[in-house]
Amino acid sequence: MFIGTPLITEEQIQRKVKELAQKISNDYAQKDLIVIGILKGSFMFFSDLIRYIKSPLKIDFIIASSYVKDSSSGEVKIHYFPREEIQGKDILLVDDIIDTGISLQYIREKILEQNPASLKICVLLDKKERRIIEVPIDYIGFSVPNKFIVGYGLDYQERFRNIPYITIFKKEAK
Ligand code: IMP
Ligand code: MG
Repeated sequence: MFIGTPLITEEQIQRKVKELAQKISNDYAQKDLIVIGILKGSFMFFSDLIRYIKSPLKIDFIIASSYVKDSSSGEVKIHYFPREEIQGKDILLVDDIIDTGISLQYIREKILEQNPASLKICVLLDKKERRIIEVPIDYIGFSVPNKFIVGYGLDYQERFRNIPYITIFKKEAK
């Protein structure tokens, strides 16, 4: 499948994911880490990332969707919340992209309500220009321009998640 030239190639992604995993392994060497992926968008990044993390960990997921009614209001719905106990644990949230920040802010609050020992956030992509809410991000892969991005887990209307690289979505794409 070819829908456009890569904005970020497979090789660049894999190099960056290894780099992030190395930092995370160092930071959590002596910790009781639970890595929580935010679905669906993070599934590919999440599975690559955790296989490069050398420190012991458990995994879980959050299934969330956000509905943006207009450019400044978003509503987040959580469909699945982790079964693993969060209280007293070191939590690392993993998402594909931070855009307005509305989803991550909401999910962050929900995790903090459970009193984790610590909470950090890792995102592969940062679309800084679109930020409405500032959310503290601890590990960032790449900054991306204010364009709609697909591939490597990110979708347009549920399609293009399986493209192994990251590209800018163009309407005429098949
Ligand atoms: P938020 O605006 O930061 O709340 O982003 C919410 C979610 O929208 C992200 O986790 C992605 O799943 C999705 N999203 C934001 N920007 C893009 C994009 O450029 N392509 C695909 N999905 C996106
Ligand atoms: Mg997402």
